[in-house]
Amino acid sequence: MLTTSEAFIGCLVVFLVYRAAIVVYRLFLHPLASFPGPKLAACSTLYRAYYQVIRDGDHVMEATRLHERYGPVVRVAPNTLHFRDPKAFDDIFKFTSNFTKDPDFYDHLGQSEALFGMPDEEAHKERFKTVADLFSKRFAQLFETNIAANVDPPATYTHMSRKANGPINIARGLRAVALDIIQDFVFDFVPDDLRGMKDEEFDTLFVDTTWDVMDWTAWCFRNFPFALTLSEYLPLSWKRVILPGEAANVESFNVIMKLVEDNVKAGPKWRRDSMISRMAGKFTLSNLTSECMGTMFGGVINLANMLPFGAFCVCSDMELQERLYEELKSVWEDPNEPIPPYSTLFELPVLRGVVKESLRLMHGIIIGPPRVVPEGGAIVNGYKIPAKAVVTTSSLYVHTNPEVFPNPDEFRPERWAKSSDLLKMEKSLVPFSKGRRMCPGREISYMELMIVFAALFRRFKLRPYETTKEDFKWKVYVSLHFTGRFFHANLEPRPDWPAIMKNSST
Ligand code: HEM
Repeated sequence: MLTTSEAFIGCLVVFLVYRAAIVVYRLFLHPLASFPGPKLAACSTLYRAYYQVIRDGDHVMEATRLHERYGPVVRVAPNTLHFRDPKAFDDIFKFTSNFTKDPDFYDHLGQSEALFGMPDEEAHKERFKTVADLFSKRFAQLFETNIAANVDPPATYTHMSRKANGPINIARGLRAVALDIIQDFVFDFVPDDLRGMKDEEFDTLFVDTTWDVMDWTAWCFRNFPFALTLSEYLPLSWKRVILPGEAANVESFNVIMKLVEDNVKAGPKWRRDSMISRMAGKFTLSNLTSECMGTMFGGVINLANMLPFGAFCVCSDMELQERLYEELKSVWEDPNEPIPPYSTLFELPVLRGVVKESLRLMHGIIIGPPRVVPEGGAIVNGYKIPAKAVVTTSSLYVHTNPEVFPNPDEFRPERWAKSSDLLKMEKSLVPFSKGRRMCPGREISYMELMIVFAALFRRFKLRPYETTKEDFKWKVYVSLHFTGRFFHANLEPRPDWPAIMKNSST
């Protein structure tokens, strides 16, 4: 009969032998064993966890450093290859590619059963049918009215410049605008206390939580799923202290679930065509909540990076700001009139360049969502990759390719005016990804960026306040996340925009 300590030692030995066998297999026998990379990364996902959790979102930069050492393909985890050359982005995401989404990644976002993350292409196709119309060009044209309705009214700017004598937190203001727009896309109605622009300080739940969810806790759960299960036993008040990102996630989910329930009850007398009107009655409450939350957060997080970044780049270059102002004035003589249609704005080269540079330098889903190689294997960037391996790369490498974008780190809207390079640049602008699973919200996002920048720079002169380029340094969660101070600016109304002066004194 074994004593307790003997049994314990026996179990420990078996466990260690088992782990050692796994390490030997991964180093010498695994189908990816011949690919270059750090041995530690080949042995265990703890290497990735270290850069994601402990070094807090530094793994894309670490992968970039590894590429400098090991070349265009690096084994960054036991079953994952990371690519650097822009060609790999095309091979992995192109329309004809039959790579599938990696459930191991989408699980931690709570999206593996929603449109955003569903790995099964057939199930995805069926689900997408219910909302496909909402992402069509025709619907985008109708939705333009909703975007303008959120951006145009002078009341919007009353908030933005209520403190006309002092700076405002424009980063939060623009997040609030993006939030209100996407809420009109997702829901039939949203109570005032959840609308970002209803509060003077933009101090509403989702303005906070769409920012707060992006922290190391997401990476902790991605690498240690059991931590997510454990966290479910923690009361929300503890989570707020220990796991703020997860607290923001849970709080949002609960409020969105209630909102979904109330919206569904109010149907079928819908006020407008929306995600909820299309999906109600066809899916479970939990499914509907994941869909609504996925699209809402997806529709805010990227735009809330691009809008403040683009606005900062414009207003920290007075010559560019004046050029944009004059261009806008040429099609929008009286700013008290409604914003000109998107089709007019799209023809403005400076504005178009500002939008494209904001998209390019904020990269979209910079993480490079991982894909699983199908049966029979595949060729990526000239390398033969075995089936079931996970492959990944980032839009970062496509957007900063100096052969397509000379001086790639510089914000240069004028580069988009040169027609000779336009086709090459357009093909290399991939913030919305590519292929069958690319972002269907592209058209709406372009409209939103153009309309918001147009309204802002036609009606105001912006001066950055205690904000520098350093404040836009970032780390990576799903999208990038700024590490500096929030962008503040003084908004000085243009002389022909008196509406705001009257409103801001009320
Ligand atoms: C500048 C803003 C945006 C960027 C950069 C962006 C980027 C992306 C990217 C890269 C993907 C693919 C993710 C993957 O492969 O896992 C995606 C998917 C998605 N996006 Fe966006 N997005 C933006 C705005 C929006 C908006 C405004 C909406 C809604 C109106 C939206 C709805 C979606 C949906 C539903 C998916 C899942 C697509 C599917 O697989 O069926 N996005 N987005």
